[in-house]
Amino acid sequence: MTQPQLHLVGAPAPIPAIELRNFSACYGDLRVLKDVSLSVPARSVTCLLGPSGSGKSTLIRSLNRINDALPGFTTNGQVDIHGECCMTDFNDITRLRAKVGMVFQTPCVFPCSIAQNVLFGVRNRKLSKIEKSALVEKSLRSAALWQDVSDRLDAPAGALSVGQQQRLCIARALAVTPDILLLDEPTASVDPVSARNIEALISELKKDYTIVMVTHDVRQAGRVADHAIFLCDGEIIEQGTRDHMFSKAALPKTRTYLLEEFCDC
Ligand SMILES: Nc1ncnc2c1ncn2[C@@H]1O[C@H](COP(=O)(O)OP(=O)(O)OP(=O)(O)O)[C@@H](O)[C@H]1O
Ligand SMILES: [Mg+2]
Repeated sequence: MTQPQLHLVGAPAPIPAIELRNFSACYGDLRVLKDVSLSVPARSVTCLLGPSGSGKSTLIRSLNRINDALPGFTTNGQVDIHGECCMTDFNDITRLRAKVGMVFQTPCVFPCSIAQNVLFGVRNRKLSKIEKSALVEKSLRSAALWQDVSDRLDAPAGALSVGQQQRLCIARALAVTPDILLLDEPTASVDPVSARNIEALISELKKDYTIVMVTHDVRQAGRVADHAIFLCDGEIIEQGTRDHMFSKAALPKTRTYLLEEFCDC
């Protein structure tokens, strides 16, 4: 795992984990992201906030090109992942997906065992039985699920609670050892206790991973975000540190959304 970056005064600024410059995305004629430019620092949590339909999922899905397969989906502009162009430097999409893992709003476990779910993304790697067991344990521990399932790794994943299934999805994403973890409303379909567990997990994971997370829960963003981006109608209204975005110095539109949970854009 890479070490934390120190930024010395006078030294060049560290390369952001993710950088978008004038990025636009369309579904057919519908332009849903409009000249978006943003920067996501490494090993931190960046929350994407904004009203429904503002383009948050489209933005996050563009970071590992999961929308590429959609007919009519087109993009324009630059997306860099650790300085590499997401569009041209990753001809091998599996290399991009290995770097940029994704977890969706609704836990999507496969109809196989807990262990097989964890190993799904590495199924083509030649791993010994011992290496597989070690990877299953490490990934489940990192996703704070090991305690719950260590005695039933061969049980069907579908038998887990929804909160556990979401942590299993996080474990499956971690097993591929990505640098970046994209979470699209990871707590939207779980109960408040499981949501807090996942929040605690996210705060722990940011020591080793760059996390970009979509959430509708403004208070959740206030608890877990190091940085926040406020998106409205496909445009970035404001981005900055959590302290800035939740302060009086933020733009009035940002304040209205974050404080009153109302969008007047
Ligand atoms: N597969 C698709 N085909 C056509 N239009 C789409 C598709 N997916 C999303 N859109 C449209 O793109 C716009 C942005 O959608 P997106 O899902 O990115 O918004 P969002 O901010 O994630 O919303 P929510 O908070 O409701 O999840 C919306 O107008 C939506 O209808
Ligand atoms: Mg969405």
